[in-house]
Amino acid sequence: MSENTTIRIALTKGRLEKDTVGLFGKMGFDTTELVEKGRRLILNIPGQNIQVVLAKAADVITYVELGACDMGVVGKDTILEHGGQYYEIADLGFGRCRFALATKEGSDFYGGVGVKTVATKYPAVTRHFFESKRMDVDIVKIEGSVELAPLLKIADGIVDIVETGTTLRENGLAVIEDVVPISARLIVNTVSMKLKKERIEELSAAMLSALEQGERGSV
Ligand code: PRP
Repeated sequence: MSENTTIRIALTKGRLEKDTVGLFGKMGFDTTELVEKGRRLILNIPGQNIQVVLAKAADVITYVELGACDMGVVGKDTILEHGGQYYEIADLGFGRCRFALATKEGSDFYGGVGVKTVATKYPAVTRHFFESKRMDVDIVKIEGSVELAPLLKIADGIVDIVETGTTLRENGLAVIEDVVPISARLIVNTVSMKLKKERIEELSAAMLSALEQGERGSV
């Protein structure tokens, strides 16, 4: 496959975008346009035939599934919640956090009788977690700051992303069980994987190699 083949890659806006742009910098790419993007959402990496699209996490998956983008960088949290048809080809290792079940400090989530209520932004992940335990729970979908739900007494617990644990701690909540670890993943459109295989493999290998070198402290 020639280097003339353009690769369009969608990055999840925010932290994963910053980490990926940093990685592109380590790979020797000219990231000026990405760093000085202003409000632009489609950007180019000069000399690489790579176009970068900035989108919200779930939309990264949609664009990759529909073939509007060949590749995407998105968190495992969104992949688990969203599902879909695409290849997940690499764990990029950054954006590390975890899904966890948390309750008000000192409360006995598994104790007592009656169906418990769990608030979350991630109902599919939550349903799967409790199904695997064969435990019946009521799930309440919340759009953000899920930590409020037990404090306002509409839920016995929450399933949410925990990174440093600060949000839980500062709101009197505590993890009672880890659900699943999360990190950024590289995903690929199924047709692009066939038609642009060589370039996609080259780019992902270069990304993983730069990450590995970074871990060894040489970049
Ligand atoms: C996420 C998550 C927790 C917080 C965890 O929220 O939902 O609230 O980060 O991070 P910590 O363990 O380092 O405190 P986000 O900042 O995405 O906001 P939101 O809940 O309003 O979506």
